[in-house]
Amino acid sequence: MFILKSSIGNYIRLNNKKYSYFAGNNYLGLANHPALKKEAISSIEKYGINFSASRGTTGTSELHLELEKLLSEFKNKSGSVVFASGYMGNRILLHTLQDQYSAVFIDESAHPSIPDGIPSDISNVYFYDHCNTEHLVTLLKKHNKQRPLIITDGVFALTGEIAPLDKIYTVAKKYGAILIVDDAHATGILGKNGRGTPEHFQLDGAEYIYQSETMSKALGAYGGFISATKEIIKKIREKSSVYIGSTSLPPPIVSAGCSSIKILKQHPELRSRLFENVSYIREEIKKMNFLTTTDNTPIIPVFFNSQENAIRLSEYFKENNIIVPYIKYPVKMDKFLVRLTVSAIHTKDQIENLLELLQKWRDKHGIS
Ligand SMILES: Cc1ncc(COP(=O)(O)O)c(C=O)c1O
Repeated sequence: MFILKSSIGNYIRLNNKKYSYFAGNNYLGLANHPALKKEAISSIEKYGINFSASRGTTGTSELHLELEKLLSEFKNKSGSVVFASGYMGNRILLHTLQDQYSAVFIDESAHPSIPDGIPSDISNVYFYDHCNTEHLVTLLKKHNKQRPLIITDGVFALTGEIAPLDKIYTVAKKYGAILIVDDAHATGILGKNGRGTPEHFQLDGAEYIYQSETMSKALGAYGGFISATKEIIKKIREKSSVYIGSTSLPPPIVSAGCSSIKILKQHPELRSRLFENVSYIREEIKKMNFLTTTDNTPIIPVFFNSQENAIRLSEYFKENNIIVPYIKYPVKMDKFLVRLTVSAIHTKDQIENLLELLQKWRDKHGIS
């Protein structure tokens, strides 16, 4: 385990030593951005640390309403709702939409927040092979007496693969299924305006696609959100036990979220810089023949057949003052992986240093 002794930027400090940091999910470098910090600090001064009540009782402040308005504008939806964590978003949607489906079809490598979010009285749960729409269709045909709901990550947290949402949506339409996308790693990143995986596939605004999103990754703040029609948002506020029964997001976090949405809009160059870094690193890793994935996202895995080699690569980086973690996570995976995550704030020198070391490793140990 890493014990951080600093904020997370392109460098971090662990035990009084400085390391180049290719980890975490601070894709746009906003987690330590001066504007977010300034807003969070003045928010604490004005509102304190916590409103100490749920949204429906006395926990709604003008700040929450401002953030929800900014999110609705960003997402081009008529309503938005923010809540305690991104992890809860899938649960909120799965519970709120429960009157519209009777069976759930899940990608087998989905993030744990997806199976965890299924209501306990839904017993028809089917896992389709990872990103495999043919298998999804087979399962939908086999269980055709059910009203289906399909749920997948938009960008997979360990591999950086983008779910084939265009194909999945075609299948969903054909079989009358609702589609939920967990876009934790796509918000602020994918699509022309950073609205996520549906926008990436020109499906932004398509009917019966719902997104569960977080402000804790690219947006550099914290907390989950759902943007949808006013009617769905009203239903969430009235029916979701998670929303009704949890304390509202704290003031500094909400203010940081507001600041982040504004920065996202005002500084598109952050995303351009991120993708320049991503494309370059992906290209170089591909040239070295490492086993990795190909979608252009900031999560770049290096796969190994042996756990020992994955751990050794991560340790080798650490000995050379770079953090690239070996990741063990509750997601179905038949390989071992070191996960490199890229940020808009990584410098050319840092990237060259990382790649040089990787090349040296490859020359000495090979790729598997
Ligand atoms: C795919 C996915 N969904 C949901 C979450 C949960 O989001 P949060 O950490 O903001 O609660 C994560 C975070 O790790 C994730 O990777």
